Amino acid sequence: MAVVLCLAAEKGGVGKSTVAANLAAAFARSGYATVLIDLDPQGTASSAWLGVTSDTISSADYLVRPEAGSTMVVGEGWIPAPGVPGLWVVPADHDPLVIRGRAMVTEMNAALILRNRLQALQDGTLGEYADIVIIDTKGADPHEPLVAAGLIAADFVLPVLIPEPAQLDGIARVVTAVHAFAEDGVSQAQVLPPLVNQFPHANQGRKSANVAQKLLDDAGVPLAETRIHAWSDVRMAQSENTPVCVHAPKSKAAGEYHALAKELRKSMGIGKARKAVS
Ligand SMILES: Nc1ncnc2c1ncn2[C@@H]1O[C@H](COP(=O)(O)OP(=O)(O)OP(=O)(O)O)[C@@H](O)[C@H]1O
Ligand SMILES: [Mg+2]
Repeated sequence: MAVVLCLAAEKGGVGKSTVAANLAAAFARSGYATVLIDLDPQGTASSAWLGVTSDTISSADYLVRPEAGSTMVVGEGWIPAPGVPGLWVVPADHDPLVIRGRAMVTEMNAALILRNRLQALQDGTLGEYADIVIIDTKGADPHEPLVAAGLIAADFVLPVLIPEPAQLDGIARVVTAVHAFAEDGVSQAQVLPPLVNQFPHANQGRKSANVAQKLLDDAGVPLAETRIHAWSDVRMAQSENTPVCVHAPKSKAAGEYHALAKELRKSMGIGKARKAVS
C-alpha cells in the first residue's frame, strides 16, 4: 500500500513546496518509490524544484476528469524527476483557471475525485509502484478546492510553519478543517505533529533563535522532532532546480531532510525500503 501524505499551511511562503520536493527526494534516495503530486498552480515543487512541467497530463487531470477513474492507469502522467531515480512527479497546471474552466468543480467533487482516484489506484497496483505519494498544496484557506482536495485525499497531513507569531492560527485552521472533513465522513486523514521550517540558527542571531524557541514552547502543541533550519544550501539547490539531497548530499540541510523522512516513516508506519538506491 502506498501512503499518501499532504503538506499544508494556510500561510503562504512557509516552505511547503520546498519541504515537499526535498522530502520526496530524500525518500526516493533512501529507496522508497515516491510520487509527488503538485496541486499548487504556481508549480513551485514540480517546476521550480524538480524541473518538471507537462503540456499533457497535469494534476488537474487527477481532479477534473471524473471518467478517468476507470481509465487512468497507474503511472499515467507520472514524469520521472531528472537526476532523482525513484521519484516521479505529477506536475501542476500553470493556469489556475484550467481547474474551473474544464469542469464545474466544487470543493467536494474535486476532493472526492482525487481521493477516489488515489484509492482506485491503491486498490489496483499503485502499491506495486509507489511506497509514498506526497501532495503539495498552496498556501490558502484549507477549504479552498485545491487545498481541500489534497487534505481529503491524504492518509496523513503534515502542517508546516515557520516560527513567527500568527503562524499557529493558520495551523489550527488546517487541523480544524481536517477534523471537519472527517466529521463529514469524507476524510480519514490523520494530522501529524507540525513541522517547523526555517528555524533560525543560533549563529545567525541567538536572540531570534531564542524568541523562536519560546514561541514554540508557548504553543503547547507537540511538534515534529526534526526541525529544518534556514540553509543557504537550500536556496542554492533551488536555483539549480535540484533537491538539496542531490545538490549537496553531505550537507547538514540534506541530513535534516533524511532525518525528517525517517521520523515520518515511523509516524506513518512505512517499513523498510524495498531496494537501496546506489
Ligand atoms: N529551510 C529553508 N532554508 C532556506 N530557505 C528556505 C527554506 N525553506 C524554504 N525556503 C525558501 O523560502 C521561500 C518560500 O518557500 P516555498 O515556496 O517552499 O514556500 P510555500 O509555503 O510553498 O509557499 P506558497 O504558499 O507560495 O506555496 C523560497 O524562496 C524557499 O527557497
Ligand atoms: Mg508552495
